[in-house]
Amino acid sequence: MGRIYRVGYAGALNGSLKLQGAKNSVLKLMAATVLAEGTHRIGNVPLISDVDVMREILHAIGAESSWTGPHELEITVPSADRLSPYPPVELVGRIRASIVLAGPLLAVTGRARLAAPGGDDFGTRPIDIHEDALQRLGASFEYLDDYLEVKAPRLEGAGLVFEFPSHTATDNAIMAAVLARGTTVIENAAREPEVVDLAAALASMGARIEGAGTSRIVIEGVDRLSPMDHDVVGDRVVAATYLTALGMAGGRLALEGIDTSIMEILIRKLGACGVSVKPVAGGLVAEAGPRPRAADIQTLPYPGVATDYKPMLVAMLSRAEGVSVVSENLFSGRFRYLDELRRLGADLISEGHHVVVRGVPRLVGGRVQAYDIRAGAALVVGALGAENETVITGVEHIERGYDGLVENLAALGADISVEEE
Ligand code: EPU
Repeated sequence: MGRIYRVGYAGALNGSLKLQGAKNSVLKLMAATVLAEGTHRIGNVPLISDVDVMREILHAIGAESSWTGPHELEITVPSADRLSPYPPVELVGRIRASIVLAGPLLAVTGRARLAAPGGDDFGTRPIDIHEDALQRLGASFEYLDDYLEVKAPRLEGAGLVFEFPSHTATDNAIMAAVLARGTTVIENAAREPEVVDLAAALASMGARIEGAGTSRIVIEGVDRLSPMDHDVVGDRVVAATYLTALGMAGGRLALEGIDTSIMEILIRKLGACGVSVKPVAGGLVAEAGPRPRAADIQTLPYPGVATDYKPMLVAMLSRAEGVSVVSENLFSGRFRYLDELRRLGADLISEGHHVVVRGVPRLVGGRVQAYDIRAGAALVVGALGAENETVITGVEHIERGYDGLVENLAALGADISVEEE
């Protein structure tokens, strides 16, 4: 028994959608609320299961949240002495983003307990950059059986140089540094738009942060912060999912709630594939012909093409005219969805971190399994270009980060439904 998506062939997509807020921002904003006692408001919150898990984690440490509008959360955080630094290991193990609680919990309680991080199924995901950053700010780590204990009686600003511009390590270091004594400088910081969104929310709480969106971020510690009132930035990975779905099926799509400047290189690549994307006030409009064209693509840290777009791009390119080479430069194991796409008739050869995609005119349907969130989204994109019915299992992975994917695609004319099996 479980939920499945059933997808049939319906041809071109047409219509308009309002885009959800970003999963990879909202989870950090929710963690950041721990930094200030009082009631926070977060708007444009997506209805996704990772948000539910983060609410449970916050509840377990003493912060209560409630929905005050269809996409609006209020989170009430008690004084630091009434916050527990020990979220249940089972809960934090369920979402990778829970690691970003380490920074804020250390900053306000001086302690944190973290599960060996969970999340997606695509290779080793070390946390050494987080650990190094927090240690330089004064924390000590102890590895116990199934969790880590982190302590820092008082955090002190420091100079940090990241070996790699890790997205969540940048979030964590910023949140640890905002209440630390003195100045913290992060060199080789991640530049993702969600880091910029977090910095903007923290600035609205009274934090002093400069340089978010560049690779050098400077944080001046302050004594206290006040609650945030912030709307989550649009989800560029979900936008990419709808755009690749359009590339796969053809048609015309208007998307509201995204600033195209945060996905420029993707838009350029999509243009090369025959999916034209134009900015309009508050969003974009996109058009695609009946079949995409091949293009070579490599994933890189922002502003490069995000690793999160890649599974959907491979799915789209699998029915492109021509041969594409897609290279992964971030996650070693992010290739498991390839076997599932092959089941749908995609002609894919993988070698090291490259995939050669030989486009076929149309995929065929089949029964496939989503192993992680973006792999699942890629199967939905693949199924839209398949001539008979596709059944996708493991959709709970997709629902970790997609708000209303099935309803939205159906509204655009896709033949897709969700069922209990
Ligand atoms: N890395 C290390 N050590 C660390 C941290 C990262 O070696 O301590 C390596 C990773 O193994 C990887 C690379 O650095 O090779 C990039 O990892 P990064 O830390 O930037 O990724 P992340 O912060 O764990 C976030 C998103 C991911 C997204 C990546 C890249 C969240 C919760 N997750 O992960 O999102 O793929 O950045 O942009 O923000 C998703 O939404 O599907 C997703 C997986």
